[in-house]
Amino acid sequence: MSSYKIAVLPGDGTGPEVIAEGVKVLEAAGSTFGFTLDMSNYDFGGDRYLRTGEVLPDSAVDELRSVDAIYLGAIGHPDVKPGVLEKGILLKLRFELDQYINLRPVKLYPNVETPIKDKGPEDIDFVVVRENTAGLYTGIGGISRKGTPHEVAIQQMVYTRDEVERCLRYAFEYTRRRNKTNTLTLCGKTNVLTYVYDLWERAFHEIGESDYPDVKRDYAHVDAITMWMVKNPEWFDVIVTGNMFGDIITDLGAMVQGGMGIAAGGNINPHGTSMFEPIGGSAPKYTGQGVINPLACICAGQMMLDHLGETEAAAKVESAVIGFLSEGTLKGLGADHIREAGLSTSKIGDAVAERITAG
Ligand code: IPM
Ligand code: MN
Repeated sequence: MSSYKIAVLPGDGTGPEVIAEGVKVLEAAGSTFGFTLDMSNYDFGGDRYLRTGEVLPDSAVDELRSVDAIYLGAIGHPDVKPGVLEKGILLKLRFELDQYINLRPVKLYPNVETPIKDKGPEDIDFVVVRENTAGLYTGIGGISRKGTPHEVAIQQMVYTRDEVERCLRYAFEYTRRRNKTNTLTLCGKTNVLTYVYDLWERAFHEIGESDYPDVKRDYAHVDAITMWMVKNPEWFDVIVTGNMFGDIITDLGAMVQGGMGIAAGGNINPHGTSMFEPIGGSAPKYTGQGVINPLACICAGQMMLDHLGETEAAAKVESAVIGFLSEGTLKGLGADHIREAGLSTSKIGDAVAERITAG
């Protein structure tokens, strides 16, 4: 029987509530499909930081390096200065574990309301491959003459050819494997960012032409892609882009697919330890109320199972989610409005888990 070592980081705010439901569903999948998940909890987050001053020690990073996957709830605490936990935990793990891909599917499930008029599940089904460890996120830059009228602030968008290339290769491979319309769209800004996106564009066509001639290549500027994601989401199969643009367009993507309550992502190191998380934040003001939709976290768990090679179990989790939504309890509502549907965080977790164990 296969067994996987999973590090669970529930994190802050409503993170622990949604993680509890995700774990419930993963356990149901394990017992149904005959694998075990050896899960250890880590309490890194705002409360621990406020108590001990510790954010994420290097020893913990090394421990996390050795697990099969990491399952993360949410990071962000109202009493901690913005940036401390985000950089100290989330970004530190992405960087240290070299999770250079952020994979974010944008898929509208049946009976989930999208704000996009006249579009349904057949129109909204694409994936964003966001570069996850470089670009504007490297922290290279600085401030001088601080506090004076002549203050200078610089934040550099940094990319090396191999950082760009490994991300593009992943995206081409992923597009092939996904096998939908076999189209990869590069999202850039070649009309203004004439250094960085020139590099991306050249690498995109060179690699595409030599190694992936079967994958159709398309290009869109980042500002234009936000229009088309709203106007014609059906045009997209896989979109690949740099870190900052990827951050921005995937929040738009989350709304297009019905809200943060359903949007999941994976921070992937194809040769190391990957980390799966709902895209939404810790929503601290809703802590303890059971009003956050755990489907995003459950779908992150599904991506984790898929990544671990438990593809049948992953497919079952997805069909259980779809089955639950097909009952229509969220009909006419976005994924973030479970209270209006008379649902709660744990009721949704139970409903999905039951569908899995029911076979
Ligand atoms: C995300 C988040 C993070 C990011 C923040 C919390 C650092 O917005 O995962 O998209 O910018 O990548
Ligand atoms: Mn973001």
